[in-house]
Amino acid sequence: MCGIIGFTGNIQAKNIIIDGLERLEYRGYDSAGLALLNNGRINVMKKTGKVADLRKLCENAELSGTCGIGHTRWATHGGVTDVNAHPHRCGQVVLIHNGIIENYKQIISEYGLADKLMSETDSEVVAALLDTLYDGDPIKAIKKTVNVLSGAFALCIMFQDIPGKIFSIRNVSPMVATSCEKGSIIASDLTALIEFSKDYFVVPEYHILTLSKEGIDIIDMKGNEVKPEILSVNWDIASAQKGGYPFFMLKEIYEQPDAIRNTVTPRVSQGLPDFTEDGIDDSIFTDCERICVVACGTAMHAGMVGKHLIESRLRVPVQVEIASEFRYKNPIMDSKTLTIVLSQSGETIDTLEALKLAKSMGSKVLSIVNVKGSTIARESDYVLYTHAGPEIAVASTKAYTVQIAAMYLIAARMGLVRKLIDEKSTKKFIINLINASNIIEETLKSANNIKRVANHIKLAPDAFYIGRGLDYTMSLEAALKLKEISYVHAEAYAAGELKHGTIALIAENVPVIAFATQEDVYGKVISNIREVKARGAYVVLVSMDEKVDDVAICDQHIRIPKLDSEFTTFATSVILQLIAYYTSEAKGLDVDKPRNLAKSVTVE
Ligand code: F6R
Repeated sequence: MCGIIGFTGNIQAKNIIIDGLERLEYRGYDSAGLALLNNGRINVMKKTGKVADLRKLCENAELSGTCGIGHTRWATHGGVTDVNAHPHRCGQVVLIHNGIIENYKQIISEYGLADKLMSETDSEVVAALLDTLYDGDPIKAIKKTVNVLSGAFALCIMFQDIPGKIFSIRNVSPMVATSCEKGSIIASDLTALIEFSKDYFVVPEYHILTLSKEGIDIIDMKGNEVKPEILSVNWDIASAQKGGYPFFMLKEIYEQPDAIRNTVTPRVSQGLPDFTEDGIDDSIFTDCERICVVACGTAMHAGMVGKHLIESRLRVPVQVEIASEFRYKNPIMDSKTLTIVLSQSGETIDTLEALKLAKSMGSKVLSIVNVKGSTIARESDYVLYTHAGPEIAVASTKAYTVQIAAMYLIAARMGLVRKLIDEKSTKKFIINLINASNIIEETLKSANNIKRVANHIKLAPDAFYIGRGLDYTMSLEAALKLKEISYVHAEAYAAGELKHGTIALIAENVPVIAFATQEDVYGKVISNIREVKARGAYVVLVSMDEKVDDVAICDQHIRIPKLDSEFTTFATSVILQLIAYYTSEAKGLDVDKPRNLAKSVTVE
């Protein structure tokens, strides 16, 4: 949450910073600001609203300088106001911050900083503290400051009397950096860096970086010089642009066939699942007695699909935990529990802390992560990278389906090495999994039909998704997606559960979207549909066949390709994503940046 960027080099920094902020905007869009250091002066421009508003503000201003920092905010401490926007200035110091300083109140009173502060933010307290401790030696002041701070922080700092330099340090909150012939650049994530170089490094925690146009120096807290590990990105700038789509979310929905292909095919050898290249030791699958899946939001829903699959195919018990709850429930974990962590960003703080807790209790951790070199990836015993490419829209789509695909791969490998499923059946399963890309391509052809459904839903205050078995787990994701980007209140119910209370909410025209893709419970879901239809619901049936009688009871029918029940998840994913997308679009909302949200939740 919050996007930060710093650039110092041979060319003007203003546009580099604003362009970078636009790419980082998915991390927070309450306000945006920048500061440019030029001739011993620092100009600060900041404003509530989107980066586009900041761009306008800066258009006519006299802003020059080859060294600057910028920030796009997701508010935590203090409301969405101009004064709370970053950068924060105090005396000689101007800084931007991502994270939360837990002891900011204590620092204010201990160092008598109250009179120096203008905003309500914890971040400005860091600027005030730094200014208080600064005596001309930036490294000394930064060291002293971070020794006082508790909490998560990624800081980029400029001192008015130090030309051309940006200082940076972090704890937990992510930052990556690179240098090239244009200069040195640091940012919250790669989307802002990729234009400059495909090589980058993850900023090590509690190390002080000094960025100048010549390059980046890194020292540890004892002053020793440190050489970072250089990583390489395997996607390009085009992946982080809309490419003709009106919103990133639609583009990312359409990228799913490729994302799945890129994630699955490198892990298939002679028709069988193979994690040799990932360095994943089969012993984690054979030695465990149970699995604990930990994640948040959409990633957790992908974990629920995995649970269903592993339990039904392998009879290995799987529990799925909301990461933020897991941490405080005194969980039962041991060395016989394999923890599977799912995270697109690899930075979600609750998931990260849950991972650390699981590890400390003796559990081996296998994470499914999309962002290379992210903190969760680095903290895990083993990583299965998904290859979805950058996901920019706040609402997760392609990262979800590749997480599901990764869970299918794990289920297949685990079944094989535990000798629960023979090679022939595993090969058949893998053929079906590879076919998931085609399933998605086929389902995307229903887009126009889905638009009609969205036109009905957009008028409703509430909507319900129902299903049984795997379809119930898809309903959970469907309801989250609809709420998140269209602001239509939506609930997911196990279809058989409605009559135990919730059916009281079904009245004339209330949309009920029923997933009926599971062969073993198909008839039961149809009965549940009849129950809601009898009470006036507007029913959308999602199923494989056009069984005339069943379709006749519905107001709309969305057909999915004929598939084994285990693989309908890929078709249903596309449908639930497009329903949410088109509803949001029909309401004229900013699909990619839903209110109050930000990508990558790095606060607890
Ligand atoms: C919803 C969504 C979130 C994320 C959740 C976890 O569309 O994107 O629910 O799934 O915040 O994020 P990651 O996967 O980055 O850990």
